[in-house]
Amino acid sequence: MIYQLIKPSLFIIYLFASLLCTSSCKQPEPKKNDIESRVNNLLSEMTLDEKIGQMSQIDPGYMSVDQINKTVRDGNYGSFLNVFGVAKINALQKIAMEESRLKIPLLIGRDVIHGYRTIFPIPLGMAATWNPEVVKKAFRISSAEASSQGIKWTFAPMIDITWDPRWGRIAEGCGEDPYLASAFSKAMVEGIQGEQLTDPTAVAACAKHFVGYGFAEGGRDYNTTYISEPVLRNVVLKPFKAAKEAGVLTFMSGFNDLNGVPTSGNEFTLRQVLRKEWKFDGMVVSDWGSVSEMISHGYCADEKEAALKAITAGVDMEMSSTTYVKHLKTLIAEGKVDQTMIDEAVKNILRVKFKLGLFENPYVDPEAEKQMLSPDFLDHARTVARQSAILLKNDPNTLPLSAGISSVAVIGPLADAPRDQLGTWVFDGKAENSVTPLTAIKEVLGDSKVNFAAGLKYSRDKSKTGFAAAIAAAKKSQAILFFAGEEWILSGEGQSRGEINLPGVQEELIEELAKTGKPLIVVVMAGRPLAIGKVVEKSNALLYAFHGGSMAGPALADLIFGKESPSGKLPVTFVKGSGQIPFYYYHNNTGRPANAKSWTPMDSIPVINSQASLGYKSFHLDYGFTPLFPFGYGLSYTTFKYSNIILSSSEMDSKGSLTVKASVLNDGNVDADEIVQLYIRDRVGSITRPVKELKGFKRIHLKSRETVGVTFELPASALEFFNGKENVIEPGEFDIWVGPNSDEGLHSVFIVK
Ligand code: BGC
Repeated sequence: MIYQLIKPSLFIIYLFASLLCTSSCKQPEPKKNDIESRVNNLLSEMTLDEKIGQMSQIDPGYMSVDQINKTVRDGNYGSFLNVFGVAKINALQKIAMEESRLKIPLLIGRDVIHGYRTIFPIPLGMAATWNPEVVKKAFRISSAEASSQGIKWTFAPMIDITWDPRWGRIAEGCGEDPYLASAFSKAMVEGIQGEQLTDPTAVAACAKHFVGYGFAEGGRDYNTTYISEPVLRNVVLKPFKAAKEAGVLTFMSGFNDLNGVPTSGNEFTLRQVLRKEWKFDGMVVSDWGSVSEMISHGYCADEKEAALKAITAGVDMEMSSTTYVKHLKTLIAEGKVDQTMIDEAVKNILRVKFKLGLFENPYVDPEAEKQMLSPDFLDHARTVARQSAILLKNDPNTLPLSAGISSVAVIGPLADAPRDQLGTWVFDGKAENSVTPLTAIKEVLGDSKVNFAAGLKYSRDKSKTGFAAAIAAAKKSQAILFFAGEEWILSGEGQSRGEINLPGVQEELIEELAKTGKPLIVVVMAGRPLAIGKVVEKSNALLYAFHGGSMAGPALADLIFGKESPSGKLPVTFVKGSGQIPFYYYHNNTGRPANAKSWTPMDSIPVINSQASLGYKSFHLDYGFTPLFPFGYGLSYTTFKYSNIILSSSEMDSKGSLTVKASVLNDGNVDADEIVQLYIRDRVGSITRPVKELKGFKRIHLKSRETVGVTFELPASALEFFNGKENVIEPGEFDIWVGPNSDEGLHSVFIVK
């Protein structure tokens, strides 16, 4: 067996070099022309069956080994998903390379969404770091681990913008903001694919789900979406464009019906936008069964029509359903599908395989898996988890706790839930590799100082039988650490919720614990932003952690005991309750905006017998007009003071740029990171414009009492938007803010001429 394997020692050097590599050590990719001629040569040798084989992907889980081997030998499938492992992949690739007629390697895909074995926080948590660099490295590590199992294609990043925390898949994306999500989209693609695509640790990324899936009506998964073209282009498409610009090799069409046309049969998004406007030359794969699901949508009468609509729209490879295998040949014979369409699709697929260097080295180095869960990887998972936690409340002297504290009560269903802290979309991470908060806190304080009583067995538990023990543990301790949240299964695909409160009787237990009068610190570990207003009221400090992955426990202990100050900021607006959805900070203004004076709280309304005015402004009588916490919000163990916003000019033209400076003082006693945010508002437009838009952010480190100057470049191009007809930068007045979140900041104005 002659595997073209690189030496183990070389592999490790490769991996670390690629983790550290900057653009200066970038090696040249094979020349585009070389790849194009190889693609064309190979294509000219292929039969129609072999072409259709390349355009088909299945999960062969239900097949016997002999059946799988035969399909590879016969070239029936260009790609498998969910097959992995060194021996298995090497054996399959050997059949493809030595026994199939054209010796085309397989492309092996799998969902590696936030880590392979070393699990990082859910992507929404990663977005809360506002630190694309640490996230890029997290994805580099994921690719190193996944590629060591033969996985050369991951269905990530998931960059669906959503305004709806009921939607279970909010966990998998980067939140509500197109600018923030675009920064992470780029970082994730670069991390997944690495510096050089032929590197053994490089994995092809897949920008998904193209497009609009996050706008599912009512937050019910797979639901219909209606998105106007300005919102589509100004918001939803932005992170996908960023992925394209970062060189993403593949896109995935979605499940959703967009403005009446399912996205796996949508010529406007797939051909007009992706191919014609963006000039994407990689591959488009459908989502799992989304081609045949166009029948349920009522867009196609049968599988044959589904195949026709998908190929016509530009889906190159069909995942899981088999309409291409069954019908493409007939559609060609009938003249409904042109050969050139098939050839284009196959070229898009082969190009990816050539770019990844699979023809030269389709095999996995058996040594590579040894670095799985390496201390460096786990340490990085801890860093990312630490930076992803957001401090939402801290009464004076509550957090951090002194490591010299004589006792703490550790309570709550997420305190020692190793699988739950990993979060959704984890196929290959293992609960036994998680370090829970309970374990980490014991590590810091020693077992004897920790009074553990979960109180509730799991997040939805409605039994109160554990309350007494939990209250007793609280009473004999100096402080209470309550780990609240959701089990992993309550978010993710197909896991949407109507109410987004803490499940079960967690709130009731928190209320009981508050009555003990002990300092009550609540840590929420969840897959979505929950409506936690009551919990905020009852607690003295609240840390929002999302599902933080393998190292969530030690990361939280680092923050709780003040090894580092919390520094995450919200990547989504937190609402007061489901009824306030959608609430995103960059909404357009109404003709009757509300303010503190105009809101009439429902409980203050007298009983009135005749028609009367409550101000006629835009608010809810019960929720008011503000969210629970604004986008970008997050506290620290120190206080930051912003001063001195200075613009390089009060004017710029549509090709110009402004330099924006401000000073930030760390006015407290601890060193800490702050995330400085830049927002603008285009006051008047040819269509109405958002009340604020993020256009820059920087994570900076400040020593106690240090002042740091922060500089942003704001090019006029950042002000461009689609007005329903064309992209424009419109002259006029703009507001600009530099501040700690979307609600506060130093203000100035400038004019675009
Ligand atoms: C999901 C995709 C995923 C695919 C393959 C689908 O159900 O929507 O995001 O990549 O399955 O696992």
